[in-house]
Amino acid sequence: MKTLFLKVDPENPGPTKIQAAARIIQQGGLVAFPTETVYGLGADALNPAAVLALFEAKKRPLDNPPIVHVADPEEVCRLVEEVPPKGAVLMEKFWPGPLTLIFKRSNIVPQVTVAGLETVAIRMPKHKVALELIKQSRCPIAAPSANLAGKPSPTTAQHVYEDLNGRIDCILDGGATNIGVESTVVDLSVDPPMLLRPGGTPYEALKEVLEDLKLHPFVQAEQEISLHEVRSPGMKHKHYAPKAEVILVEGNVPAVIAKVKELAESYRLKSAKVGILATDETQVAYKADVVKSLGSRFNLAAVARNLFRLLREVDAENVDVIIAEGVSSEGLGLAVMNRLRKASGYRIIKTEE
Ligand code: TXA
Ligand code: MG
Repeated sequence: MKTLFLKVDPENPGPTKIQAAARIIQQGGLVAFPTETVYGLGADALNPAAVLALFEAKKRPLDNPPIVHVADPEEVCRLVEEVPPKGAVLMEKFWPGPLTLIFKRSNIVPQVTVAGLETVAIRMPKHKVALELIKQSRCPIAAPSANLAGKPSPTTAQHVYEDLNGRIDCILDGGATNIGVESTVVDLSVDPPMLLRPGGTPYEALKEVLEDLKLHPFVQAEQEISLHEVRSPGMKHKHYAPKAEVILVEGNVPAVIAKVKELAESYRLKSAKVGILATDETQVAYKADVVKSLGSRFNLAAVARNLFRLLREVDAENVDVIIAEGVSSEGLGLAVMNRLRKASGYRIIKTEE
């Protein structure tokens, strides 16, 4: 399959290229497009054959449903059984934006789109290209992140190209995404509501509006969760895993620096090629084959924006091991730490003072 590559201005996408992409969606094809979080791989959410093709292109397990994207909160009504009052409040306050809500689904949503579940995940993205594409397509768009299953989510069209060129119909290139980690997922089909995946909308901001919101234990898990605790299909699948082994070092900064140095040295003695994911404040302390900074420890939005790109970049250097520093779990840090822990396969070292 030849993948059509279309560059669009993210601020002012214009009608022509979006119309071409929308026609592909309407004909049951697959289009990768930018959102404010990461690139999504879109298909008509109400066309079962198109959604099935989407799973195949990504090599995604069929039991892990994608998020359905809408361009207007009104569109939620026909996709769900009901919008609970707490859902209305969250939509009003946080949409468009990096927040996905889980509702009980209506019967018009095909089985394959929800992986046979009784619930559906919906979000309204805050990105002109995404919103225009949904509007022009005149259907809700099912879109998981546009990476091959298990790889870090794509934050540029180039990442999508690396993973999916030749496997999908079209890539809309709207430049690098702004937030860099995926949307926060909140389950409203249960009461109290439960945060299942930390992401671009901080837990603290949600908690201000929904006092009874609970964090699923998996969100801050420091080890793999047992299957009976799985609430979201995405929890049990391998994620964000570079080819290299990843080790995450957490704790206070001086102790982390000492531990990272010690680990880097021990791998060097074994002739391993070592990559270090440091921060602006610490990177000068290290010598290794590859040292990259995630950004400042005091700017977690920047760390989130850089995270997936750097995981890909360090991996592309064919290192044997990636030693990553942990950061604070406040704000966007909760999503960053969740992704780093998953990427490490829970190889986490906690340093002592
Ligand atoms: O920011 C994002 O959310 C990006 C952009 C493209 O919008 N999309 C994204 O989709 O990250 P995906 O498919 O990679 O992740 C969707 C997550 C998965 O962890 C999945 O298990 C969960 O949402 N999910 C989907 N439907 C669900 C449901 N009915 N109940 C519980 N979890 C669900
Ligand atoms: Mg994904």
